[in-house]
Amino acid sequence: PIPVIIDCDTGVDDALALLFAVRHPGLDVRAVTCVAGNTDVDGVVRNTLTVLEQAGAPDIPVARGAGRPLIEPARSARHVHGEDGMGDIGLPAPTRAAVDVDAVTLLRREILASPRPVTLIPTAPLTNIALLLRTHPEVTHNIERIVFMGGAVACGNATPVAEFNVWHDPEAAAILLTAGVPITMYGLDVFQRVVVPGADVRRLRASAEPGARLAGELLAHRPATPDVGADSEAGGIGDAGAVCTVVDPAGITTGLLPVEVSLAPGPTRGQTMVDRRPRPGESEIHAGLREQQLVDVALDVDVDRFVKLYLATVERA
Ligand code: BDR
Ligand code: CA
Repeated sequence: PIPVIIDCDTGVDDALALLFAVRHPGLDVRAVTCVAGNTDVDGVVRNTLTVLEQAGAPDIPVARGAGRPLIEPARSARHVHGEDGMGDIGLPAPTRAAVDVDAVTLLRREILASPRPVTLIPTAPLTNIALLLRTHPEVTHNIERIVFMGGAVACGNATPVAEFNVWHDPEAAAILLTAGVPITMYGLDVFQRVVVPGADVRRLRASAEPGARLAGELLAHRPATPDVGADSEAGGIGDAGAVCTVVDPAGITTGLLPVEVSLAPGPTRGQTMVDRRPRPGESEIHAGLREQQLVDVALDVDVDRFVKLYLATVERA
Protein backbone atom coordinates (compact mmCIF):
# COMPACT_ATOMS: atom_id res chain seq x y z
CA PRO A 1 0.00 0.00 0.00
CA ILE A 2 0.95 3.66 -0.53
CA PRO A 3 2.03 5.31 2.76
CA VAL A 4 -0.02 8.48 3.28
CA ILE A 5 -0.57 11.13 5.94
CA ILE A 6 -3.75 13.21 5.93
CA ASP A 7 -3.65 16.75 7.31
CA CYS A 8 -7.23 17.88 7.85
CA ASP A 9 -9.73 20.22 9.54
CA THR A 10 -12.53 17.67 10.07
CA GLY A 11 -14.98 18.93 8.75
CA VAL A 12 -17.86 17.05 7.10
CA ASP A 13 -16.01 16.23 3.89
CA ASP A 14 -12.66 15.72 5.64
CA ALA A 15 -14.50 12.97 7.55
CA LEU A 16 -15.62 11.50 4.21
CA ALA A 17 -11.95 11.57 3.15
CA LEU A 18 -10.81 9.80 6.34
CA LEU A 19 -13.47 7.09 6.00
CA PHE A 20 -12.35 6.41 2.45
CA ALA A 21 -8.62 6.46 3.23
CA VAL A 22 -8.71 4.01 6.12
CA ARG A 23 -10.92 1.59 4.17
CA HIS A 24 -8.96 1.53 0.94
CA PRO A 25 -6.62 -1.48 0.80
CA GLY A 26 -4.16 0.42 -1.40
CA LEU A 27 -3.46 3.04 1.29
CA ASP A 28 -1.52 2.82 4.53
CA VAL A 29 -2.63 5.80 6.66
CA ARG A 30 0.37 6.35 8.92
CA ALA A 31 -0.94 9.40 10.80
CA VAL A 32 -3.59 12.10 10.73
CA THR A 33 -2.71 15.66 11.71
CA CYS A 34 -5.19 18.38 12.61
CA VAL A 35 -5.29 22.11 11.89
CA ALA A 36 -7.76 24.93 12.53
CA GLY A 37 -10.04 25.61 9.58
CA ASN A 38 -13.61 24.38 9.42
CA THR A 39 -13.71 24.63 13.20
CA ASP A 40 -11.21 25.33 16.02
CA VAL A 41 -8.32 22.88 16.29
CA ASP A 42 -9.57 21.16 19.45
CA GLY A 43 -12.88 20.50 17.72
CA VAL A 44 -10.98 19.17 14.70
CA VAL A 45 -9.01 16.76 16.93
CA ARG A 46 -12.20 15.51 18.59
CA ASN A 47 -14.01 15.02 15.30
CA THR A 48 -11.02 13.25 13.75
CA LEU A 49 -10.64 10.82 16.65
CA THR A 50 -14.37 10.00 16.60
CA VAL A 51 -14.45 9.44 12.84
CA LEU A 52 -11.45 7.10 12.98
CA GLU A 53 -13.13 5.10 15.76
CA GLN A 54 -16.38 4.83 13.82
CA ALA A 55 -14.46 3.81 10.73
CA GLY A 56 -12.84 0.94 12.62
CA ALA A 57 -9.35 2.49 12.63
CA PRO A 58 -8.85 3.53 16.26
CA ASP A 59 -5.06 3.02 16.30
CA ILE A 60 -3.91 5.61 13.76
CA PRO A 61 -1.99 8.36 15.61
CA VAL A 62 -3.70 11.76 15.57
CA ALA A 63 -1.87 14.98 16.46
CA ARG A 64 -3.04 18.49 17.21
CA GLY A 65 -1.49 21.19 15.04
CA ALA A 66 -1.76 24.92 14.47
CA GLY A 67 -4.68 26.73 16.09
CA ARG A 68 -4.55 29.65 13.69
CA PRO A 69 -3.06 30.65 10.34
CA LEU A 70 0.49 32.07 10.03
CA ILE A 71 -0.66 35.68 9.62
CA GLU A 72 -4.43 35.78 9.21
CA PRO A 73 -6.60 35.69 12.34
CA ALA A 74 -8.45 32.46 13.26
CA ARG A 75 -11.82 32.16 11.51
CA SER A 76 -14.16 29.21 11.55
CA ALA A 77 -16.52 27.88 8.88
CA ARG A 78 -19.28 26.85 11.31
CA HIS A 79 -21.93 28.22 8.96
CA VAL A 80 -20.92 25.48 6.48
CA HIS A 81 -19.92 22.60 8.76
CA GLY A 82 -22.23 23.15 11.78
CA GLU A 83 -21.51 24.13 15.38
CA ASP A 84 -19.34 21.06 15.98
CA GLY A 85 -17.72 21.28 12.53
CA MET A 86 -19.36 17.95 11.64
CA GLY A 87 -22.84 18.96 10.59
CA ASP A 88 -24.25 18.59 14.13
CA ILE A 89 -25.33 15.01 13.38
CA GLY A 90 -24.84 13.99 17.03
CA LEU A 91 -21.47 12.24 16.90
CA PRO A 92 -20.29 10.66 20.17
CA ALA A 93 -17.17 11.94 21.95
CA PRO A 94 -13.98 9.98 21.22
CA THR A 95 -12.70 7.43 23.73
CA ARG A 96 -9.00 8.27 23.26
CA ALA A 97 -6.87 11.39 23.04
CA ALA A 98 -4.42 12.80 20.51
CA VAL A 99 -0.76 11.77 20.81
CA ASP A 100 1.37 13.95 23.11
CA VAL A 101 3.47 15.48 20.33
CA ASP A 102 2.37 18.32 18.04
CA ALA A 103 1.42 17.80 14.38
CA VAL A 104 4.71 19.05 12.94
CA THR A 105 6.69 16.66 15.14
CA LEU A 106 4.46 13.72 14.24
CA LEU A 107 4.65 14.57 10.53
CA ARG A 108 8.43 14.70 10.65
CA ARG A 109 8.70 11.48 12.63
CA GLU A 110 6.35 9.48 10.41
CA ILE A 111 7.78 10.80 7.14
CA LEU A 112 11.36 10.02 8.12
CA ALA A 113 10.45 6.62 9.59
CA SER A 114 8.58 5.42 6.50
CA PRO A 115 10.46 2.80 4.46
CA ARG A 116 8.86 4.25 1.30
CA PRO A 117 8.36 7.93 0.41
CA VAL A 118 5.13 9.26 1.87
CA THR A 119 2.31 11.00 0.00
CA LEU A 120 0.89 13.91 2.01
CA ILE A 121 -2.80 14.71 1.55
CA PRO A 122 -3.71 18.11 3.05
CA THR A 123 -7.46 18.75 2.91
CA ALA A 124 -7.35 21.91 5.02
CA PRO A 125 -5.55 25.24 5.37
CA LEU A 126 -1.84 24.57 4.83
CA THR A 127 -0.50 25.97 8.12
CA ASN A 128 0.87 22.67 9.49
CA ILE A 129 2.47 21.78 6.16
CA ALA A 130 4.15 25.19 5.84
CA LEU A 131 5.50 24.95 9.39
CA LEU A 132 6.79 21.45 8.65
CA LEU A 133 8.53 22.51 5.44
CA ARG A 134 10.17 25.50 7.11
CA THR A 135 11.13 23.71 10.35
CA HIS A 136 12.27 20.36 8.94
CA PRO A 137 13.11 20.82 5.24
CA GLU A 138 14.95 17.46 5.29
CA VAL A 139 11.57 15.69 5.16
CA THR A 140 11.16 16.57 1.48
CA HIS A 141 13.60 13.76 0.63
CA ASN A 142 11.04 11.21 1.80
CA ILE A 143 7.93 12.89 0.38
CA GLU A 144 6.66 11.27 -2.83
CA ARG A 145 4.12 13.99 -3.63
CA ILE A 146 1.74 16.41 -1.93
CA VAL A 147 -1.83 16.09 -3.22
CA PHE A 148 -3.75 18.96 -1.67
CA MET A 149 -7.38 20.04 -1.77
CA GLY A 150 -7.29 23.75 -2.29
CA GLY A 151 -7.29 26.56 -4.79
CA ALA A 152 -9.36 27.02 -7.90
CA VAL A 153 -8.63 27.65 -11.55
CA ALA A 154 -11.90 29.34 -12.36
CA CYS A 155 -14.03 30.43 -9.44
CA GLY A 156 -13.60 30.70 -5.66
CA ASN A 157 -15.91 29.98 -2.75
CA ALA A 158 -14.58 31.99 0.23
CA THR A 159 -14.36 34.99 -2.12
CA PRO A 160 -15.26 35.27 -5.82
CA VAL A 161 -11.70 34.19 -6.67
CA ALA A 162 -10.27 32.45 -3.57
CA GLU A 163 -10.94 28.91 -2.32
CA PHE A 164 -11.39 28.51 1.47
CA ASN A 165 -8.25 26.48 2.36
CA VAL A 166 -5.93 28.86 0.50
CA TRP A 167 -7.83 32.00 1.53
CA HIS A 168 -7.68 30.95 5.20
CA ASP A 169 -3.86 30.88 5.19
CA PRO A 170 -2.48 32.28 1.91
CA GLU A 171 1.13 32.54 3.15
CA ALA A 172 1.11 28.85 4.09
CA ALA A 173 -0.21 27.92 0.64
CA ALA A 174 2.54 30.02 -0.97
CA ILE A 175 5.17 28.12 1.03
CA LEU A 176 3.71 24.81 -0.13
CA LEU A 177 3.63 25.87 -3.77
CA THR A 178 7.33 26.71 -3.75
CA ALA A 179 8.49 23.69 -1.72
CA GLY A 180 10.20 21.95 -4.62
CA VAL A 181 8.32 18.65 -4.16
CA PRO A 182 5.88 17.27 -6.73
CA ILE A 183 2.43 18.78 -6.08
CA THR A 184 -1.06 17.99 -7.31
CA MET A 185 -3.68 20.70 -6.82
CA TYR A 186 -7.16 19.20 -6.43
CA GLY A 187 -9.06 22.47 -6.57
CA LEU A 188 -12.68 23.59 -6.54
CA ASP A 189 -13.06 23.04 -10.29
CA VAL A 190 -13.05 19.25 -9.72
CA PHE A 191 -13.91 19.19 -5.99
CA GLN A 192 -17.44 20.44 -6.56
CA ARG A 193 -18.29 17.99 -9.31
CA VAL A 194 -17.98 14.62 -7.58
CA VAL A 195 -21.48 14.07 -6.22
CA VAL A 196 -23.04 10.83 -4.92
CA PRO A 197 -26.65 10.39 -6.17
CA GLY A 198 -29.45 10.55 -3.59
CA ALA A 199 -30.37 6.87 -4.01
CA ASP A 200 -26.86 5.84 -2.95
CA VAL A 201 -26.90 8.27 -0.02
CA ARG A 202 -30.18 6.68 1.16
CA ARG A 203 -28.68 3.18 0.93
CA LEU A 204 -25.62 4.24 2.98
CA ARG A 205 -27.80 5.86 5.65
CA ALA A 206 -29.76 2.63 6.04
CA SER A 207 -26.61 0.49 6.38
CA ALA A 208 -26.13 -1.61 9.52
CA GLU A 209 -22.37 -0.97 9.36
CA PRO A 210 -21.37 2.15 11.37
CA GLY A 211 -18.72 3.50 8.95
CA ALA A 212 -20.94 3.26 5.87
CA ARG A 213 -23.86 4.71 7.84
CA LEU A 214 -21.71 7.64 8.97
CA ALA A 215 -20.70 8.28 5.34
CA GLY A 216 -24.41 8.39 4.46
CA GLU A 217 -25.20 10.85 7.26
CA LEU A 218 -22.31 13.10 6.25
CA LEU A 219 -23.24 13.03 2.56
CA ALA A 220 -26.81 13.89 3.50
CA HIS A 221 -25.47 16.99 5.23
CA ARG A 222 -23.58 18.12 2.12
CA PRO A 223 -25.56 20.54 0.04
CA ALA A 224 -25.91 19.27 -3.50
CA THR A 225 -24.10 21.38 -6.08
CA PRO A 226 -26.21 23.22 -8.65
CA ASP A 227 -25.35 20.84 -11.49
CA VAL A 228 -27.12 17.85 -9.84
CA GLY A 229 -30.43 19.56 -10.53
CA ALA A 230 -33.47 17.93 -8.97
CA ASP A 231 -31.63 15.28 -6.90
CA SER A 232 -31.84 17.18 -3.62
CA GLU A 233 -30.58 14.22 -1.57
CA ALA A 234 -27.32 13.99 -3.52
CA GLY A 235 -24.11 14.90 -1.66
CA GLY A 236 -20.61 15.78 -2.77
CA ILE A 237 -17.60 13.76 -1.53
CA GLY A 238 -15.55 16.98 -1.40
CA ASP A 239 -12.11 16.46 0.18
CA ALA A 240 -12.40 12.70 -0.35
CA GLY A 241 -11.79 13.33 -4.05
CA ALA A 242 -8.19 14.30 -3.25
CA VAL A 243 -7.71 10.89 -1.63
CA CYS A 244 -9.35 9.17 -4.64
CA THR A 245 -6.73 10.93 -6.77
CA VAL A 246 -3.91 9.23 -4.84
CA VAL A 247 -5.47 5.78 -5.32
CA ASP A 248 -6.54 6.37 -8.93
CA PRO A 249 -4.57 9.25 -10.51
CA ALA A 250 -6.09 8.46 -13.92
CA GLY A 251 -9.47 9.65 -12.57
CA ILE A 252 -8.38 13.26 -13.08
CA THR A 253 -6.92 15.09 -16.05
CA THR A 254 -4.14 17.49 -15.09
CA GLY A 255 -2.06 20.20 -16.67
CA LEU A 256 1.49 20.90 -15.47
CA LEU A 257 1.17 24.65 -14.93
CA PRO A 258 2.61 27.59 -12.96
CA VAL A 259 0.45 28.49 -9.94
CA GLU A 260 0.93 31.57 -7.80
CA VAL A 261 -1.00 32.57 -4.68
CA SER A 262 -2.04 36.20 -4.47
CA LEU A 263 -0.71 37.55 -1.15
CA ALA A 264 -1.65 41.14 -1.80
CA PRO A 265 -4.26 42.67 0.50
CA GLY A 266 -7.55 43.32 -1.24
CA PRO A 267 -9.98 41.40 -3.41
CA THR A 268 -7.52 38.93 -4.95
CA ARG A 269 -5.93 37.78 -1.67
CA GLY A 270 -5.85 33.97 -1.55
CA GLN A 271 -6.51 33.49 -5.25
CA THR A 272 -4.52 30.73 -6.95
CA MET A 273 -3.53 32.26 -10.26
CA VAL A 274 -3.07 29.36 -12.67
CA ASP A 275 -1.22 30.34 -15.82
CA ARG A 276 -2.90 28.49 -18.67
CA ARG A 277 -1.39 30.60 -21.44
CA PRO A 278 0.45 28.56 -24.06
CA ARG A 279 3.38 30.99 -24.13
CA PRO A 280 4.75 33.96 -22.12
CA GLY A 281 2.89 37.22 -22.52
CA GLU A 282 3.77 40.89 -22.73
CA SER A 283 4.63 41.24 -19.05
CA GLU A 284 7.23 38.47 -19.10
CA ILE A 285 8.66 39.71 -22.37
CA HIS A 286 9.31 43.06 -20.71
CA ALA A 287 10.31 41.86 -17.22
CA GLY A 288 12.09 38.60 -18.13
CA LEU A 289 10.99 35.07 -17.33
CA ARG A 290 10.87 33.97 -13.69
CA GLU A 291 11.77 30.53 -12.40
CA GLN A 292 8.53 29.06 -11.11
CA GLN A 293 7.61 25.63 -9.83
CA LEU A 294 5.07 23.82 -11.97
CA VAL A 295 2.09 22.16 -10.32
CA ASP A 296 -0.09 19.31 -11.59
CA VAL A 297 -3.42 21.11 -11.62
CA ALA A 298 -6.60 19.02 -11.82
CA LEU A 299 -8.60 20.38 -14.75
CA ASP A 300 -11.17 17.63 -15.20
CA VAL A 301 -12.47 14.61 -13.28
CA ASP A 302 -14.20 11.38 -14.27
CA VAL A 303 -17.12 11.85 -11.89
CA ASP A 304 -18.66 8.42 -12.37
CA ARG A 305 -15.33 6.69 -11.77
CA PHE A 306 -14.69 8.50 -8.48
CA VAL A 307 -18.27 8.02 -7.23
CA LYS A 308 -18.00 4.27 -7.90
CA LEU A 309 -14.56 4.11 -6.27
CA TYR A 310 -15.82 6.02 -3.23
CA LEU A 311 -18.91 3.85 -2.70
CA ALA A 312 -17.13 0.54 -3.29
CA THR A 313 -14.49 1.52 -0.71
CA VAL A 314 -16.67 2.88 2.12
CA GLU A 315 -19.10 -0.03 1.77
CA ARG A 316 -16.33 -2.60 2.27
CA ALA A 317 -17.13 -4.46 5.47
C1 BDR B 1 -12.52 23.22 1.51
O1 BDR B 1 -12.94 23.97 2.63
C2 BDR B 1 -13.59 23.13 3.55
O2 BDR B 1 -14.84 23.66 3.87
C3 BDR B 1 -13.72 21.78 2.93
O3 BDR B 1 -13.50 20.77 3.92
C4 BDR B 1 -12.64 21.77 1.87
O4 BDR B 1 -11.41 21.31 2.37
C5 BDR B 1 -13.31 23.64 0.28
O5 BDR B 1 -13.08 24.98 -0.01
CA1 CA C 1 -11.29 20.35 4.63
